Amino acid sequence: MTQACTATAVACANIAFIKYWGQRDAALTLPANGSISMNLDGCLTETSVLFDPELAGDSVWLALGGGEEEPASGRAFERVIAQIERLRAMAGNRWPVQVRSRNNFPSDAGIASSAAAFAALTCATCAALGLDVSERELSRLTRLSGSGSACRSIPAGFVEWHTDGTDAGSWAEQIAAPDHWALSDLVAVIDTGAKRVSSLHGHSLAPTSPFFDARLAELPQRLAEVRQAIIERDIERLGVATEADAISMHAVMMTQRPPAFYWLPATLLVIQAVQRWREQDHIQAYCTIDAGPNVHVICEASDAPEVESRLCELDAVQWTIVNGPGPEARIVG
Ligand code: DP6
Repeated sequence: MTQACTATAVACANIAFIKYWGQRDAALTLPANGSISMNLDGCLTETSVLFDPELAGDSVWLALGGGEEEPASGRAFERVIAQIERLRAMAGNRWPVQVRSRNNFPSDAGIASSAAAFAALTCATCAALGLDVSERELSRLTRLSGSGSACRSIPAGFVEWHTDGTDAGSWAEQIAAPDHWALSDLVAVIDTGAKRVSSLHGHSLAPTSPFFDARLAELPQRLAEVRQAIIERDIERLGVATEADAISMHAVMMTQRPPAFYWLPATLLVIQAVQRWREQDHIQAYCTIDAGPNVHVICEASDAPEVESRLCELDAVQWTIVNGPGPEARIVG
């Protein structure tokens, strides 16, 4: 290579129906269990990388939530450059890099922006460095960034992160394309504060919960249930298993040592309202919650306007973000 090389990629965030919580190997980001998610078409990160021998050094610029671009420093800078280093070494390239990354969704909405960010970063960097990798390999490399859930943002639509405990066997694969099922994820934003316990730290604490092994024992059955529900477009089957899994993950979190309580009183208000709408009005909507207080409400797209207007009427909800099944991580320039 004699000339500077550049590429731009876009990737979606994703919401897990079966959650990843706990690791088998932290250095390799090998999860304790498989997980299943849907890409979110309304929550995108666009990342450009420029490798140029003329640059003075590595730099990373982040524009979060539509704000101004700012230089990244500290841990955020180190995590990005560690992933770049891994790919530079594979390509035999030593040129400095300039990374520019932008989200289209508010960074304070409690949506895992790191999944979209590391999927877009890995996709753009492989393209710029001329690394000709398969989707499976791209997903595996994205996983190594440390944001494990990011590997699920590589394939399109409904995705399963397989894991057999080895590096080569831990990657994400499509279960169904985005147009297979018009499903909606309505994010009910109830709090915009920073995470109290990072996912990275949380994964290491998970095995200290007496419920961790019980959760792992349930998962093969629940993974099969969710896989089948997606294939059959069965909202009730998907919703029941998804809600059960979120509650089981939070039970582990709350019983870790020290415990991590991500829920706020408003989280429970939204969960109870959704349960009420199901019981009283037969609205097929179900909740899931990541490592934060905001509630993702899953329903079919035909029910989404009604569910959204009900969510907006709750005092607990500040605003909502509506997502459908999103595309794969891809090169756009
Ligand atoms: C609760 O380690 O992938 O969202 O900090 O966003 O990189 P980041 O998280 P990660 O853990 C994700 C944990 C989870 C569940 C899930 O998405 O599977």
